[in-house]
Amino acid sequence: MIKPHGADVLAPRYVANETERNALLSEAEFLPSILLNSAAAANAVMLGAGYFTPLSGYMNVADAMKVATDMHTTDGLFWPVPVLNLTDSVEGIGVNRRIALRDPNVAGNPVMAVIEVAAIEEVSDEQMDTMTEAIFGTLDEAHPGVATFRSLGRYAVSGDIQVLSFSYFATEFGDTFKTAVEIRDQIGERGWKTVVAFQTRNPMHLAHEELCRMAQERLNADGIVIHMLLGRLKAGDIPASVRDACIRKMVDVYFPENTVMVNGYGFDMLYAGPREALLHAVFRQNMGASHLIVGRDHAGVGDFYGPFDAQGIFDELPEGALAIQIFAADHTAWSKKLGRVVMMREVEDHTPEDYVFLSGTRVREMLSEGIAPPPEFSRPEVAEILMEHYQLEARQPAVGE
Ligand code: ADX
Repeated sequence: MIKPHGADVLAPRYVANETERNALLSEAEFLPSILLNSAAAANAVMLGAGYFTPLSGYMNVADAMKVATDMHTTDGLFWPVPVLNLTDSVEGIGVNRRIALRDPNVAGNPVMAVIEVAAIEEVSDEQMDTMTEAIFGTLDEAHPGVATFRSLGRYAVSGDIQVLSFSYFATEFGDTFKTAVEIRDQIGERGWKTVVAFQTRNPMHLAHEELCRMAQERLNADGIVIHMLLGRLKAGDIPASVRDACIRKMVDVYFPENTVMVNGYGFDMLYAGPREALLHAVFRQNMGASHLIVGRDHAGVGDFYGPFDAQGIFDELPEGALAIQIFAADHTAWSKKLGRVVMMREVEDHTPEDYVFLSGTRVREMLSEGIAPPPEFSRPEVAEILMEHYQLEARQPAVGE
């Protein structure tokens, strides 16, 4: 099986031994604590679950800057996105001390990790700009990832962590949330060698389903892991629970048994396009996938990235940076001429009218009105779940009403 990134074995930071974990939780009650922001909490979950192997904690500013500008840590490890714990509240905490980290996403803010603080550093405006520009390719606050990143705080609290909980991911998505350790084990048990990972933050329409099928066939893969993001999204994106139901239904009905694993990871969407695609590749390698599908506008938002920038960045990597490979896909859509989903660059004589295209806005409108998109766009079983979601949403009073 493919090796983890930069290591021979996974290095999850979760304290799996229950006695040890409970002892740490008791200790943590007496430690000074800070309330994490959602981004830092998500980093803790990824570190805990082994997805961020071989990292052992939050980066200091030197590492974060080197990762942003050069995609390597100061130790020379390939890493595409800084893994930071940014905060504004550093009162009462000090270097070389153990500090409890509290979960912002669970009622009562329970302790989710303990950090051995190695440094507390103020991030300058210039450093913040450099990192923002490098990660997102823009400083524009209209970019949801940029707005979030720049609101996280001005102090980087770095150091190794011990993770004590997987936050709400383990409780809310019990069947779907899986650690890299669990997925790697399952792949091993199934004896899969060539494994295609599909990243998604959306319910899967026919074009996505066919994209997975094309990748599996062309790579002669043993199986597909549909690996969905379960963390925070921008307003308007489909909630993870609804997406999970759609994807499970689609797999149940339309894929042969034991060819697809459906699961997810606990991380907030960055919308960082190419850089996020690289991060996606790192943690899919860690979970044991040999290939990651990277299609059109992967991890993108609005018009901030070119449609295939997230594929192009893989061509610029130094030799050996990653062991996982990408399955670079062109835009897929239903061809009315051929009566099937195609990759657009592979068919001749097609004009835009020859495809079934529906904008996201139009699809949302249809679903809210209880109109199923055509079967060339969406499986009827999936459309049904989505219609129910949108209609329920339409009946909910808006905040403040
Ligand atoms: S993402 O932010 O998680 O990348 P999304 O769930 O929409 O968003 O996409 C999942 C994967 O499918 C990405 O690799 C994306 O590039 C790819 N993809 C989505 N729609 C298409 C399409 N019509 N043609 C080709 N690739 C697509």
